[in-house]
Amino acid sequence: MTTRKVKTAILISGRGSNMVALVEAAQLETYPAEIVGVISNRPDAEGLEKARALNIPAFVIDHRHYASREAFEQDLHDKLVSLEAELVCCAGFMRVLTPWFVSRWKNRLLNIHPSLLPKFKGLKTHQRAIEAGDKETGCSVHWVTEELDAGAVILQKSVEIAPDDTAELLAARLLPVELSLYPEALKKVASKILAAH
Ligand code: GRF
Repeated sequence: MTTRKVKTAILISGRGSNMVALVEAAQLETYPAEIVGVISNRPDAEGLEKARALNIPAFVIDHRHYASREAFEQDLHDKLVSLEAELVCCAGFMRVLTPWFVSRWKNRLLNIHPSLLPKFKGLKTHQRAIEAGDKETGCSVHWVTEELDAGAVILQKSVEIAPDDTAELLAARLLPVELSLYPEALKKVASKILAAH
C-alpha cells in the first residue's frame, strides 16, 4: 500500500539550498509531503541543476519573457496545476506575487523569510537587525498573503547576533537553521492536511 503524501511544488530563483533541504526531507518514507516539481523564474538559477540531480522535474518560467506580471503568473499557475500541486513552497523565490496569484493559492502557499517576523519584512533583513542593535534574529516560515511577509507564522527559530557580526556572517550562521526549519514547517502543514482527510 502506498501512503498518501501532499503534492508540493517549490519556487526558486537562485541557489536552492532550502529547496534541496525540502527534497531531501521528503525522501524519507514517513514524510507527509512529496516534491512534485521545482520552478525557477530565472534560467540561470543554480537550484535547477540541483533539483534535476535529485530526480525532481525542474522548469523555468522566465518572468522576463512576459509583458505583465499577471501573464507570468498565469503560466506559473498553469504549471502548478499541471503538476497537481496542493502546496507551494517559495524558497528564495525573488518575485513579489500579486493578489490574483495569492488568492488562487490561499492557505496553500508558504515562504521562508530570514527574520523573526513580524520584524524586518522585505529585504536586507540581517543588516537591519544589526543596525537596530538587536541581540537576536532568526528565520520564519509563514503563509503568503497579499501583504508582503505579513502572513501568519507557521514556525520560527532564532539565532544570537554577536557584537562583531556582519550581515554575511549572520546569513551563513542562519542558513543551517533555515534548512532544518523549512522541512519541519512543511511537515507540520502537510500532516494537518492529511489528518483532515
Ligand atoms: C534564504 O536565506 C531565504 O531565507 C531567503 O533567500 C535565501 C534563499 O537561499 N528568502 P536558497 O536559494 O534556499 O539557497
